[in-house]
Parts: sequence; structure tokens; C-alpha cells
Amino acid sequence: MSNEAIIFKQVSKTFPKAGKPSVNETSLNIPQGSFVTILGASGCGKTTLLKMVNRIIEPTAGTISIFGKDIRSMPVTELRQSIGYVIQQVGLFPHLTIEQNIATVPDILGWERKKTAERIDYLMDLVHLPENYKKLYPRQLSGGQQQRVGIARAMAGDPAILLMDEPFGAIDAITRTKLQDDFKQIQRELGKTVLFVTHDVEEAMKLGDRMIVMNEGTIQQYDTPLAIMSNPSNSFVSRLIQADDLFQQLHLIRAEERMIALTDEAVADDIPRVKASESLKSVLQTLLQQNAPYVVVENDKQELIGRLTLQQLKLQNGR
Ligand SMILES: Nc1ncnc2c1ncn2[C@@H]1O[C@H](COP(=O)(O)OP(=O)(O)OP(=O)(O)O)[C@@H](O)[C@H]1O
Ligand SMILES: [Mg+2]
Repeated sequence: MSNEAIIFKQVSKTFPKAGKPSVNETSLNIPQGSFVTILGASGCGKTTLLKMVNRIIEPTAGTISIFGKDIRSMPVTELRQSIGYVIQQVGLFPHLTIEQNIATVPDILGWERKKTAERIDYLMDLVHLPENYKKLYPRQLSGGQQQRVGIARAMAGDPAILLMDEPFGAIDAITRTKLQDDFKQIQRELGKTVLFVTHDVEEAMKLGDRMIVMNEGTIQQYDTPLAIMSNPSNSFVSRLIQADDLFQQLHLIRAEERMIALTDEAVADDIPRVKASESLKSVLQTLLQQNAPYVVVENDKQELIGRLTLQQLKLQNGR
């Protein structure tokens, strides 16, 4: 048995009447349990790539398999039940309550009421939604809360794979950070395989164990965020992630210049520590390598004086 969750072999998609393929002869292995982000400009084929996995779009050439099985050999309904799908506009059913929305797949699968009810409780807790939201309707929730319901609904049938297409795209920065952190934690705990499309360089680097950079239907690079940052495969990748600028800037700025002063909050033991005089480049490496939500900064006397998140490295600087 291979430990690849998804394999693309020479997959292409050319839409009728289109001059060129939207996805072009793409081969790709997505290991089980990995969080893979797909980054690229508008129209480069990200959504097309994703939708071929659950057969919303059929490839014109090549094969896709999940857990070693060609997806064409599976009934479409069965395939879609084994893959969770989350999109930007959430797509909750407006006339159904939150609990009814989450129960969509369990109802299709004909689960017993008790099992479904337990699953709803578990999922609402998992995505940090208060229990008394169950009977509310989507319009009574904020965008961020609706997105949490969307994630819960996608996970209801316990799919091994989640496809996410800019799920946090329409959400304000603070809520978005919280959703990212919570979702990353859930993914790690449950070992789901996630394929996650985003426009946002920071989001792609923060969430992905591995990152795909696409341009015009072709994968430009597929590697860890750190490897892509430090060694972009071509000028397109380098421009997209602003690797040069970023690295130059980060090299020149010390941790203490960007950190937020630490108040008396407790710091967990597994949070990495960096020196106040370290460059942000080295802080970035620590953050990405250890997959930490933030680092704490210590002075010469080894007193903890500040904290730094990826956000504060201001990856958007100069844009
Ligand atoms: N149903 C369709 N029929 C015809 N052409 C399509 C269809 N869907 C997508 N395309 C074309 O395929 C290309 C890739 O589209 P896709 O939606 O995959 O891009 P994307 O990377 O997801 O873009 P965005 O970031 O804007 O969502 C585009 O040129 C688009 O016009
Ligand atoms: Mg898209």
C-alpha cells in the first residue's frame, strides 16, 4: 500500500473552446496526512486542479487516484462522501439550522439520530462553536462563524481528505488568523490530508507542510515553504513570493525591532526561543522549521521579553 493520499498522473484539463489547457500535464503526489497549499495568481488553474479530485470537473487526460484507487472506478456519490469540500462562500443551506447543515452527509448516509447528534456535538466543539448555536440559522452567524460551520459540515462524514478553495478568503485578518490556527491544529490532531488553495503567500507558507506554486496551468515548484523561500525554482516563483526582497529585508532587521512586548502571559515549553539580536530571517526559519505559532524573544539575561508571529514579520512589506 502506498502512503500517498492523492496521485495525479499526467493530468490535463482543456475546457471546450479554450485555446490552451487550464491544467497542463500535471503529475503530483500528496502524502497521507499532509497539508498542501496551492498558491498562484487568479486564473492559473488552482480551482480546476482541486475540482478534478472530487470530479466536479473531469480531466481531459491523465488519471487521478486516491488511496491507490482510480477515482473513475468509484461511484461519484461515494467519492464525494469520502472527500470534504469547503469553499469561500461557505454555501451553507440558508433554510436549514446549523445542526441540520452539519448533518447533511450523516443524513445522506442514513446514520441513526443518536450517532448524528453525537457527531454534531463533537464537531461543534472541535471548531469552537458554542452549543446553543445549533438551532440558529446561517444568517444569524458572522462570516467567520459560518466558515467554522462549513468546516464542521465538510468533516461530518469523517473524510480522510479535505479540499479547501480559499476558505478564509473573505474573512477579516484577525478572525482569519484565528481560523487558520484552529484549523491547522485540527488537521494535525486528526491527521487529515488537506489540499488548500489560497491567493495569500503568508497563508500558504503558514499552513502548508508543503506548498505548490502554480502558473498558467503548470506547477512551478512543489516543496516545503522554507525550501521555496530560500531556493525558488525560477523567477516567477521568486517574484510571487517576493523572496529576494523579503530575504534582504529580513536579514537586516533584528527580532527585538519587530517583537511585541511580552506581558505576564504564560509561555508553553514547546514554543521556540530566539535571541533579541537574531535576524528576522533566522526567526522565520525557526518558525517554519518547527511549525510553531510564534516564537518568544529572550534578552542576554535569558529573560523573556517579547513574542513574534509570522504576521509580525510583515511578509507583505514593500508590496
Ligand atoms: N467551466 C469553465 N469553462 C471554461 N473555462 C473555465 C471553466 N472553469 C475555469 N475555466 C478557465 O480555466 C482557467 C483556470 O481557472 P481556475 O478557476 O482554475 O483558476 P483559479 O486559479 O482558481 O483562479 P482564481 O484564483 O481567480 O480562483 C481560467 O482561464 C478559466 O477561465
Ligand atoms: Mg479559484
